[in-house]
Amino acid sequence: MAPISIQTVLISESVDPRCKAILEENGIRVTEKPNMKRDELMAEIKDYDGLVVRSATKVNADVISAAHNLKIIGRAGTGVDNVDVDAATKKGIIVMNTPSGNTISAAELTCALLMSLSRNVPQAAMSMKQGNWDRKKFMGAELYGKVLGIVGLGRIGKEVASRMQSFGMRTIGYDPITTPEVTAGWGVEQMSLEQLWPQCDYITVHTPLMPSTVGLLCDETFAKCKKGVKVVNCARGGIIDEAALLRALESRQCGGAGLDVFVEEPPKNRSLVEHPNVISCPHLGASTKEAQARCGEDIALQIVDMVKGKSLVGA
Ligand code: NAD
Ligand code: MLT
Repeated sequence: MAPISIQTVLISESVDPRCKAILEENGIRVTEKPNMKRDELMAEIKDYDGLVVRSATKVNADVISAAHNLKIIGRAGTGVDNVDVDAATKKGIIVMNTPSGNTISAAELTCALLMSLSRNVPQAAMSMKQGNWDRKKFMGAELYGKVLGIVGLGRIGKEVASRMQSFGMRTIGYDPITTPEVTAGWGVEQMSLEQLWPQCDYITVHTPLMPSTVGLLCDETFAKCKKGVKVVNCARGGIIDEAALLRALESRQCGGAGLDVFVEEPPKNRSLVEHPNVISCPHLGASTKEAQARCGEDIALQIVDMVKGKSLVGA
């Protein structure tokens, strides 16, 4: 493709220093301004050719209309759900991301939550700090021999499957695009969601957030699950309906939840976070040194490639 002139880039979040370094090595002036409020971002953005974000900056239509020079929005992470891609496209702004840089980190956090749910590790650790020695209260259950349902068999779903198989879990799943033949090659038996819900001891979701995945787990689907099913959402807030999850936890239909993501971040409604059977994290799936280095480096290299007229990547 034809080279595009990018002279200035604004980084509006905490992105690995390699991103700034690579851009600067290629003659691009970089300003880092994390934690701007929306009005500050709208005032600041008008001067820049490029914007680099992670997941916290909401690049909505107002921000895009205030961006008079913007030619590229680079998301140092998976998906582009915090960017109004339609508004950007109408203005001729290219939106790109780094789809695989944090796959392993998000998969590892998912596995950590699954293991914590099975053995109550966070609750037991908290109890120890409070001076207790409560061995009965934190009786767990082995993962060995249990059934893990993986909804969304893309990059992260696949990595979760192979890791949890090493614990002796049987992995079943559903994905409308990845074929059953492909997932059989990594030990995941695919089936319809109707067949999947009642079989699972644990369910983990790894889909994008979009109309067909909002509320995948809801009152109706929780009712089809095994009593006491444990669920993990390390993907996007809203794939598991939060109000339905709370009801399922209260009725014990759901035996526990591991949540890294919320509809509103940070969540103002604390009911789920404070529930004794919920283990939660402040959106840490991609928060490792390795993932941030990969994503920061990848997005910078992609911007440099664009300046040089090389072909683009992203998903
Ligand atoms: P991916 O695109 O590789 O895989 C997503 C899969 O979901 C695809 O195979 C797709 O076919 C499938 N899918 C789409 N609609 C579906 C549906 N209705 N039912 C079942 N499957 C469906 O994405 P990925 O890299 O594996 O990321 C998965 C999710 O994790 C995304 O939402 C991403 O934003 C999120 N994520 C979160 C963190 C974090 O910090 N917690 C980090 C990285 C990624
Ligand atoms: C992602 O989806 O890539 C992560 O949520 C990104 C992040 O934490 O910045």
